[in-house]
Amino acid sequence: MTYSPPTIDPATYDPEDWQGGTASLTEEYDYWIDQVEGEIPADLHGTLFRNGPGLLEVGGMPLRHPFDGDGMVCAIAFDQGRAHFRNRYVRTEGYLAEQAAGKILYRGVFGTDKPGGWLANMFDLKFKNIANTQVIYWGGKLLALWEADHPYRLDPASLETLGGEFFDGGLQLGDGFAAHPRIDPGDQQRPPRLVNFALKPGLSTEIVIYELDLAGQIVEQYSQTVPGFAFIHDFAITPNYCIFFQNPVQFNPFPFLLGLRSPGECIQFQPRQPTRIWLIPRHGQGKAKSLETPACFVFHHINAYEQGDQIIVDSICYDRFPSLEREQAYRQVDFNSVPAGQIWRFQLDLTTQTAKQTCLNSRSCEFPAVHPGLVGQDYRYAYLAIAHQPQGNAPLQGLLKLDLVTGEQAVWSAAPRGFMGEPVFVPKQLGQQLWQAPDSAKDEDDGWLLALVYDAAHHRSDLVILDASRLQPGPVARLHLKHHVPYGLHGSFTPQLFESA
Ligand code: CO
Repeated sequence: MTYSPPTIDPATYDPEDWQGGTASLTEEYDYWIDQVEGEIPADLHGTLFRNGPGLLEVGGMPLRHPFDGDGMVCAIAFDQGRAHFRNRYVRTEGYLAEQAAGKILYRGVFGTDKPGGWLANMFDLKFKNIANTQVIYWGGKLLALWEADHPYRLDPASLETLGGEFFDGGLQLGDGFAAHPRIDPGDQQRPPRLVNFALKPGLSTEIVIYELDLAGQIVEQYSQTVPGFAFIHDFAITPNYCIFFQNPVQFNPFPFLLGLRSPGECIQFQPRQPTRIWLIPRHGQGKAKSLETPACFVFHHINAYEQGDQIIVDSICYDRFPSLEREQAYRQVDFNSVPAGQIWRFQLDLTTQTAKQTCLNSRSCEFPAVHPGLVGQDYRYAYLAIAHQPQGNAPLQGLLKLDLVTGEQAVWSAAPRGFMGEPVFVPKQLGQQLWQAPDSAKDEDDGWLLALVYDAAHHRSDLVILDASRLQPGPVARLHLKHHVPYGLHGSFTPQLFESA
């Protein structure tokens, strides 16, 4: 595999093209995809679920930040070379209330205010559970996730909202459930587990960890209190540890309480403070360890694994918190004014409790994916959405496959008019469970990469399917949807097929 430079002039993308993908999609669809370029692999069987903000305005009033948009779930079912598309909004209490009122009733975590200025927003601490960040099928339940509140359960076939999910009392009303559960594939001794966390803020922060069995029951719950405020979106796991990066940020609540700022805008990066890494033993056994590394900001981790006395963690790091200025509308954002995510490796020495960090790839990237059978295990390939240009910051337009052993890269780019969403890796050798490890190391990239690409030329989205072992020739199939899908957040694949109502 060799890196060949993209063939398109790397200088430009048109900001207006990018803005097209920030438009709301109000319609809910249900159809067989009949416009396909190439061929859908016959062995690709199952359902890709994706979540993301679908409504970027309410009653004609634009949201100030896309992360505040109501969750809209897409399901693309693959069966014998055919594919079926469906999308539906998560009918949260907030969505139903705002749609009925025809206006914004809630403050947004990331910057959307209710109309009426600071008086209307002052001391209004009520947020809308927007269920917009991730969707996952586990224990026979399809769950739409948003980190600050409980999941919503959806019917996996119709995507109809069934209600809040509390895992038979395992969660209480008001408990969070992060949008980044990790599935530990387990081994002969250990059955697979879904591991997730929630933060309970205060002067110190309690990190609560939940482990769910294959039946979807919370079978273990343990916690660790860490000093100070914590903004933690994702974590990493190994067979023996849960790993959290406590970003060096402070939270100043007063502008928020006074209605002048959203909580997301009250976060201040502290460049002179270290990032604190917490290693919390799985199953609540043993004491947590904490290590320091120079200040950085992490939303997403790629993977982690144990290696002797070391733990290796690969993450997407920003040199500071990538926030928008109050005056800046996100649709007009100058990407070059916002820091870019880069791939860093952290080698954590458990004996000396020190960390060593190395930049593995400086190209702007986000949305990492790995083989699901190697979560928490030594692995070789990472897949990411990347900017088209090797330097600077720009919208995500390409896919990168990074060989962590040789450093080799393979790139496919949808530039200049295509904009890339998160890739999902689906192994070709797929049983009823997604998370079986590859038969041998050489099979690690024997799979498909699925991603939604916004095509500005046609103002519609394509689902692209690439062969992960051969990225360069481009998609083996491009499925043209009848409409666009607004830029989404995260998704997951299940070998179960859900295509009909
Ligand atoms: Co995320």
